[in-house]
Amino acid sequence: MNVVATGAELREALLDCAGSDGRRVLVPTMGALHPGHLELLKRAREAAGPAGTVVVSIFVNPIQFDRSADLEAYPRPMESDLAKCHAAGVDLVFTPDSAAMYHHDRSVMVTESLLSHGLCGAARPGHFDGVCTVVLKLFLLSGCHAAVFGAKDFQQVAIIRRMVRDLDVPVEILECPTVRESDGLAMSSRNLRLTARQRADAPRIHRALAAAAKLHDVAEILAAATMEIAASPMLRIDYLALVDAETLVPVTALARPAVLATAVFYGEVRLIDHVVVRSGKLKIREPAKKPD
Ligand code: PAF
Repeated sequence: MNVVATGAELREALLDCAGSDGRRVLVPTMGALHPGHLELLKRAREAAGPAGTVVVSIFVNPIQFDRSADLEAYPRPMESDLAKCHAAGVDLVFTPDSAAMYHHDRSVMVTESLLSHGLCGAARPGHFDGVCTVVLKLFLLSGCHAAVFGAKDFQQVAIIRRMVRDLDVPVEILECPTVRESDGLAMSSRNLRLTARQRADAPRIHRALAAAAKLHDVAEILAAATMEIAASPMLRIDYLALVDAETLVPVTALARPAVLATAVFYGEVRLIDHVVVRSGKLKIREPAKKPD
């Protein structure tokens, strides 16, 4: 496994893979790899094929953070991340620092102006501009044919799909289902920052969404989910919304597939989760098995 830290090194390392027949598949990450990421790596290998190249980027992208405390506290266990990539059969890991990714006087950003208005976009101004900009740069630097993202960040995936469509980016977007702990909590690098009491409380998020999504009325769904989540004195709801699965606009009726999504704060730690709702019935995406 090759580990490189600059665009020039990445280009050179990719030349070694240029003769291979398979596809080049990128998994963009911010590190602190957990079993959910390992599913992305597995999916990338399947998509690349044995002769293809799996590239993982590990970069805590400063321009997508709206709070400097969150950026500073983001875990960066580089050694164990590299060991996990090696064990997963990754070919190439790209670990740039901020100076390797951004010119000090950079003045061009990628902005998605529709799907990024609500949900996490409303609560985190500029977040999705930062995501789109870094993802497009990673696509260009790696020259990947496909890239794998986790469905947990469903708004992010929708926005990246829109960017690829609108800018004719020749990269196939592949999606992996949310991987959950045995108590239902969606896996996230941020879970590491919860105290033991917060961690014990956090499964209520998915429990609340899953139970509410079984109801058949928009107002009832929102009220039930809010009541269950807000019953915890330990958290603060950032948003809780039922939106159209395609347009991400809040719905007033369940005529089309919708997404019940929330973001909550445990202290400084912001967690997100969602479930897909179809005409009042919950569709649980096939859970990826947590490796033993
Ligand atoms: O989902 C993430 O980890 C990040 O938003 C991404 C896609 C790696 C861009 O920094």
